[in-house]
Parts: sequence; structure tokens; C-alpha cells
Amino acid sequence: MIFKKYKIKNINKRKVSVDIKLVIENYCDFDHVNYVHKRCYNYCKVIRRQGNTTFLEYGVYHIPPIPIIHHYEMEHKFISPNRIIYTSNRKGSKDKVIGEIYFEQKGKETEIVQIHNFSLPMILKPFEFFIKILLNRWSQILWDEDSEMMENRKNFIENGYKDGFHCGRWVNENGNIFWKFNKKN
Ligand SMILES: [Fe+2]
Repeated sequence: MIFKKYKIKNINKRKVSVDIKLVIENYCDFDHVNYVHKRCYNYCKVIRRQGNTTFLEYGVYHIPPIPIIHHYEMEHKFISPNRIIYTSNRKGSKDKVIGEIYFEQKGKETEIVQIHNFSLPMILKPFEFFIKILLNRWSQILWDEDSEMMENRKNFIENGYKDGFHCGRWVNENGNIFWKFNKKN
């Protein structure tokens, strides 16, 4: 009885004034995680890719800045044209986190709906409200970092700079990590 689990569904809806193509690219790009999301991730490592599916290992700080790392594995799949599905589990655990992300262009904005399904031991049910607050706090930190980066990329592109790894690089200047675009000519 004490090991009984129950299911939780958490839904987040967000908007950013960036084209859907760039937003989806960001959700399928894992290279930025180690640089941009240092508050929430200790590491993110791509193990292999197979078509639109990526297998990853990563370490999470669930309650930043508390430096406790939880290690996960993930299978992340982009389904054209506008959906991502993912399953993850703590290393050594059979409990799956199952998620779906939908993207939709609405005028100049992109709407992102993320549905996150996971299970918790019954014993933690009284703390569900608190657990959701922590989960949403974690997700909000990531969103603030991602939306800022996506808006910066959009501005660079609109100002005539080319985007992409061949056109720039991540730099660390005095502890500030950011993407530096090469000059146009
Ligand atoms: Fe990100």
C-alpha cells in the first residue's frame, strides 16, 4: 500500500513573439542546455540520434539553487509538423514521465502547450500542491532563459545576421554565457 502510486498531469501554456520554426528548433536543440540552463541542469548529454528521435541523459536540479542532482534518461521525438513527445525516467526507475508539446503559430506569436504526466508515491499526495509549485517554478526558470534566447535570436536574424552554428558560437565572457553571431560580411 505504501508503494502505491498515483498520476499527476501538469499543463503549461505559453506564448512568445517568435516564429514557430525557430521555437521548434529550440525545443530540438540540446547543445544550448549546458550553457543556458545551468541553474536547472547539471549536464545534458546526447547519447544517440535516430531520425527525429534523440536519446539523452541529463542531471537535474529540481529545486535550484539546492545542488542535489537527479539523473534521468530521455527519449525525445519530433513529429512533423508541430508536435514533440517525450518519455523519461530516473536512472534505475521504471516510472515514466510522459510528455507532449504542441506548437501553434498565432499571428506573430507561437503558442506552446506542454502536457507533463508523471506518477508519485501515494504517500506524497498531501504535498501535491507544493510539488506542483516547485515544478512550475523550475519550468518558469527554463522558460525565462529560453524565451530570452529565442527573442535574441529573432532580433539577430531580423537585423541581417545569419543564424546557425556555422555563423556563430557560444562564448563565455566574464561568466556571462551567450551566443555570439559572426558579423555579416
Ligand atoms: Fe532551452
